[in-house]
Amino acid sequence: MTGTEPQGASAPAQDQVRVWDVPVRVFHWSIVVLVTLSWASVENGYMKLHLWSGLTLLTLLLFRIAWGFVGSTTARFADFAQRPASALAYLRAMARGEHQPHAGHNPAGGWMVLLLLAVLLLQAATGLFSNDGVRFNGPLAALISSRLSDRLSSLHGTMFNFILLLVWMHVVAVLYYRFVRGENLIAAMISGRKPRDEISAQAALKFVPLRWALLCLVLAAGIVWWIAES
Ligand code: HEM
Ligand code: HEM
Repeated sequence: MTGTEPQGASAPAQDQVRVWDVPVRVFHWSIVVLVTLSWASVENGYMKLHLWSGLTLLTLLLFRIAWGFVGSTTARFADFAQRPASALAYLRAMARGEHQPHAGHNPAGGWMVLLLLAVLLLQAATGLFSNDGVRFNGPLAALISSRLSDRLSSLHGTMFNFILLLVWMHVVAVLYYRFVRGENLIAAMISGRKPRDEISAQAALKFVPLRWALLCLVLAAGIVWWIAES
């Protein structure tokens, strides 16, 4: 689908409006699986699986960065990376009990999304240079000194705890919207749709065709393949 989508033109009976495209939704639920797999694999000593889940996650993160520039309206950084002042104003309005509808990420949630993407990227990047001190080296570990590789390995381990903290905050925020404010963001991240009254009246959303997402994905996979093979 291209061009500006008339809001709700194809909405089913309950007056739901399409807000998230397929690539963002597939990206989200895939990274949930891959973060879990990355943790479970290393905990059980399956380093090869850890490498593959990490490289797949890295591919998806590079894809998501590209999609943040060329993707559909709500996927774009320009849509949700707003000034800190906007995030604070949003939080203040929320504390006063005001309802500020947003089709995509709200200005405060946008910062959380950027932080999550950044630390996940750093996690995958440090993994490339890490070693387990026994028999497994990340694909780029040989490019640096073993001392630096050891330091990056310990950063890799420490940073995962920070990721866990962010993920908990993220899930608590989503549950707060669900049970306190009555907005089911989880359902929207699954179906891609939100009730019309939960999005801004002026929202004019553009959806970019899937073939562009596939192109971004192929490019991202190519970069990661090149890294892993070097
Ligand atoms: C490893 C765990 C998780 C990570 C790393 C994660 C990360 C993210 C990221 C990066 C986004 C932004 C998506 C994008 O714009 O591409 C996002 C959005 C979202 N996530 Fe998660 N997530 C995790 C788990 C969950 C879980 C368990 C739920 C449900 C309970 C959830 C619900 C959502 C929702 C509803 C949004 C959209 C928020 C909004 O409307 O602004 N996430 N998540
Ligand atoms: C890009 C591919 C990745 C590679 C090559 C890689 C490599 C490694 C290595 C070599 C270790 C052992 C470090 C040590 O024993 O000190 C490790 C540990 C670990 N990695 Fe990764 N990793 C990658 C991606 C990821 C990702 C994406 C996550 C999670 C989001 C993750 C989470 C962990 C955790 C939780 C540990 C255990 C840390 C500890 O026990 O202190 N890794 N990784």
